[in-house]
Amino acid sequence: MRILTGIQPSGKLHIGNYFSAMRKMIDYQEKFDSFTFIANLHALTTFSSKEEQSQNTLDAVCDYLALGIDPEKNTFWVQSDVPVVTELAWYLSMSISVNSLSLAHSYKDKVAKGVSPNAGLYYYPILMAADILAFNSNKVPVGKDQKQHLEYTRDMAIRFNATYGETFVIPEAEIEENIAVIPGVDGQKMSKSYGNTITIFDDEKKIKKAIMSIVTDSVEIDKPKDPDKSVLFAIYSLFLNKNEVEKLRDRFFSPGLRYGDVKKELFSAIMDYFSPYRIKRDELSQNKDYIKEVLKKGADKAYQVASVQLKKVRENLGIPSNGV
Ligand code: ADP
Ligand code: TRP
Repeated sequence: MRILTGIQPSGKLHIGNYFSAMRKMIDYQEKFDSFTFIANLHALTTFSSKEEQSQNTLDAVCDYLALGIDPEKNTFWVQSDVPVVTELAWYLSMSISVNSLSLAHSYKDKVAKGVSPNAGLYYYPILMAADILAFNSNKVPVGKDQKQHLEYTRDMAIRFNATYGETFVIPEAEIEENIAVIPGVDGQKMSKSYGNTITIFDDEKKIKKAIMSIVTDSVEIDKPKDPDKSVLFAIYSLFLNKNEVEKLRDRFFSPGLRYGDVKKELFSAIMDYFSPYRIKRDELSQNKDYIKEVLKKGADKAYQVASVQLKKVRENLGIPSNGV
């Protein structure tokens, strides 16, 4: 079974990214044929500067490696190093209607906000489908917000197969319901674009500040609190085992709980959890040669797989290779 996922390097990675897609890819590399990439071509749809673009890409690479991606077990590369996916995206664009693309949430949200969206944003789901279909992926672990993109991918693959002959494996999204949407400090979905994240590798002060700003209700100290409505409870639970979650739940129900104390505990829990990875990340960021070598190897392997698939696609489309 082949598992694949990508992550956009559009800002500092956060615990929402970690507990949905990243950690899963790190666990899966022990069991499955795993492919993980940094989607820097997708990040161009929200470009601010070339310095930021390249720094964010490098940061995401270091974050992933520090958190445990093993390049021997997990094919790991930067999307732009395997540009055959952009060629495949063109072929796939014939298998989706303009009407259907206009219904994409990410595109509609931008239009609703009065932004004039670029065509790249419109095209985004097709490039994502190419990322997945170029590698004959069976499963794609993502957060709930990517569900529609996976539906588009499946539709394109089914339509392509029906029109041009059996070509693609039909992939499935893997969305874990209990961590499908991790809330940010303001209670909305945690997202780089909402400025409400708890980042993984920022300096301690910034992380503390974010945690202390988690929204809480105004129930008095001596009254019981509702854990199921609490953003603080939801975030803290990510770092606890089942028993510990139940204990925290009981503390919420018992009078006397101070949110400030729980926030301080959460800060310590987060620091403890990520501290070994922080050390590793610091080492990695000094070792540019190693990173280059890892990415080159990953891109070579990814290219080998994708180019076999692309050859089949071209044949089914009647596109000659002319010995090139
Ligand atoms: P962001 O919204 O911060 O820009 P991305 O869109 O780059 O994050 O998402 C990278 C991966 O992390 C995707 O699989 C996405 O579904 C997942 N993800 C992002 N934010 C969350 C969240 N708050 N809860 C669960 N999964 C998330
Ligand atoms: N769109 C995804 C996100 O924002 C990133 C991504 C690009 C992706 N290509 C992919 C995820 C292929 C899974 C598979 O999170």
